[in-house]
Amino acid sequence: MSAPGSDRPVVLQLTDATIKFGGLTAVNQVSFELFQGDLFGLIGPNGAGKTTCFNLITGVYRPTSGKIAYQGNSIGGLPPNKICKLGIARTFQNIRLFGALSAIENVMVGGHLRDPSSLLSALSYFPRAIHETARLREQARELLRIVNLEDVAEVRSRDLPYGKQRRLEIARAMATGCNLILLDEPAAGMNPFEKEDLVKVVRRIRDEYQKTVLLIEHDMKFVMNLCERIVVLDHGEEIAQGPPEAIRNNPKVIEAYLGEAV
Ligand SMILES: Nc1ncnc2c1ncn2[C@@H]1O[C@H](COP(=O)(O)OP(=O)(O)OP(=O)(O)O)[C@@H](O)[C@H]1O
Ligand SMILES: [Mg+2]
Repeated sequence: MSAPGSDRPVVLQLTDATIKFGGLTAVNQVSFELFQGDLFGLIGPNGAGKTTCFNLITGVYRPTSGKIAYQGNSIGGLPPNKICKLGIARTFQNIRLFGALSAIENVMVGGHLRDPSSLLSALSYFPRAIHETARLREQARELLRIVNLEDVAEVRSRDLPYGKQRRLEIARAMATGCNLILLDEPAAGMNPFEKEDLVKVVRRIRDEYQKTVLLIEHDMKFVMNLCERIVVLDHGEEIAQGPPEAIRNNPKVIEAYLGEAV
């Protein structure tokens, strides 16, 4: 039997990815692969190495050993800006928005990340710059619509409630023109209604905008409801991988993380 999703191209492939910080092996020989259009979950207890995996994939850290490939090309050790340009964007566990900028301006910054020269031109008053700024603004408005924030486009991001700030980060990541989007605990701090809405937003990003999604989340209902495949880390090691049903009933996962079957 062929692997799930194997009729679609491989987008991201980790092969024995490892990183050591002094005596601590934060990620230890982790291997998994994402196919185009996957909605993939990365779960595990606190300190399991999930965010560190994101930091390896996005170039914050260089792997000590092992391989990370994006669309078949090795990216391990490339600087974050290059990896972003190749098509990988992320949100952060601790929200990182420009608090004094409006929601729409934060998304426009994401557009500039894709093409930094557009920022320089936007700071000038040449006709081309005015045209470029208008284009970025239009694109940002569309992205705000996708994450249901169009009504707060002009609100300063620091004045937005927490759940909206998290959705704004997603819009900003999308503005980079990414193909693969990494979401680090997107539902953290959200109430049940916001979480329900977020499930729809993430599905839309995949279904309507053909993004591949890798997300870290502690809310098991959210993960099991949304993700089609899941990898589980514990103490930097992969302890299970598979569809939600298999993960939910996996004795190793129950012991290390879930406590009891969910
Ligand atoms: N730059 C670093 N230097 C030293 N240790 C680090 C560094 N980054 C991460 N670690 C350690 O690596 C381990 C994994 O951390 P990581 O942040 O990846 O966990 P996590 O799975 O995201 O946890 P959480 O669910 O709490 O966010 C932890 O023990 C952490 O202290
Ligand atoms: Mg983390």
